[in-house]
Amino acid sequence: MKISYPLTYQVAELPVYNINTLRALLSIRVVERSLKSLPAGALLVKMEAAPCNPSDIAFMQGGYNVIKTLPAVPGFEGCGIVVDTGKDVDASKWIGKQVSCFAQGDSDGTWAEYMLASPEQLLPAHDQFTPEQAAVFFVNPFTAYGLIQAARNHNSKTILVNAAGSRVSEYLLALSKMYGIDVVAIVRRKQTAEMLSGKGFKAVIFSSEPTFEEEITAALQTYQPTTFFDAVAGEQTGIIAKNLPENSQIIVYGGLSGKDISGINALQLIFKKLTIMGFDLNVWFARNNPQTLKEASELLTKLILSQEVLNPVGIQVSLNELVKGLRHYLGAMSEGKMLIRF
Ligand SMILES: NC(=O)c1ccc[n+]([C@@H]2O[C@H](COP(=O)([O-])OP(=O)(O)OC[C@H]3O[C@@H](n4cnc5c(N)ncnc54)[C@H](OP(=O)(O)O)[C@@H]3O)[C@@H](O)[C@H]2O)c1
Repeated sequence: MKISYPLTYQVAELPVYNINTLRALLSIRVVERSLKSLPAGALLVKMEAAPCNPSDIAFMQGGYNVIKTLPAVPGFEGCGIVVDTGKDVDASKWIGKQVSCFAQGDSDGTWAEYMLASPEQLLPAHDQFTPEQAAVFFVNPFTAYGLIQAARNHNSKTILVNAAGSRVSEYLLALSKMYGIDVVAIVRRKQTAEMLSGKGFKAVIFSSEPTFEEEITAALQTYQPTTFFDAVAGEQTGIIAKNLPENSQIIVYGGLSGKDISGINALQLIFKKLTIMGFDLNVWFARNNPQTLKEASELLTKLILSQEVLNPVGIQVSLNELVKGLRHYLGAMSEGKMLIRF
């Protein structure tokens, strides 16, 4: 496919950050971009699919650590086919390849028919991956891999995971099974708990009941998890911290409740040697060498191809149906990702 320039294509554009999620997503417009020529060192990816992750929602609210110059094209990951390469890029290595893409800088994101990328933003996809699988291969799988290594380094035989209907949690469970680690889950909805039954969690605790504190306390005493992966934060973290065994670690990797962590007693940090830290995938990528990343990528690919993880898709929409897709995703996140198809 020969690309002729100037190339005109459609993108989703966010005009302004808005803390109100609904207003933020309703403000998104589909507009045209024109690319005069391909810069040296760049690759042009014809996008096939791109998901919405919680980080994209936080970005639209202006509450993420990536702040782009507005108006901006959202989308931190996706997949597509490399259709052109600029000067200084080995075309024979890239043209026609399906790639997973990652976009975290100030440049346009993945919610666009075409994306300009540097080679570091692209990972050639396994030739058996469908676009649905390749589009979500960067953010959640590697996060779960990085997290599970932290549990293994801590010698945890059991881990505790909240927001357990999430895709990160799906990978965490699959990796835990591989490494012989037990997983206790917390979810906020009855239907999510039902969906997870029979998947292999030691216990699934439902957080929206008034009996939550009692139930989680009993579960922590029974299963003794020494790593708690927290994607929710708020007062739930304090309730759990109080009841974790000595020498436990809390790794906070999300803030879905939108609340500050509260209720952690200072004496616990001192005398029960509780540690609490954050996890950021970008830092994890930067800290690990190419060999580790290759091993992680191969293992995660195996989990996908063997269907240990299913990466369910809740809804697929065109760029023009983005608002409908986002509304659906926000109402049923555990069901699966919203994918924009181009
Ligand atoms: N730190 C990092 O580098 C990093 C990287 C990747 C992902 N993450 C984080 O990992 C988490 C999961 O991401 P994902 O893409 O796997 O999610 P996902 O598949 O889109 O699912 C989101 C999950 O969160 C649950 N949830 C949403 N709001 C909640 C709340 N207020 N309280 C409790 N549960 C809530 C949803 O449950 P319902 O079905 O009940 O709505 C759903 O199970 C997110 O916080 C994301 O930001 C962090």
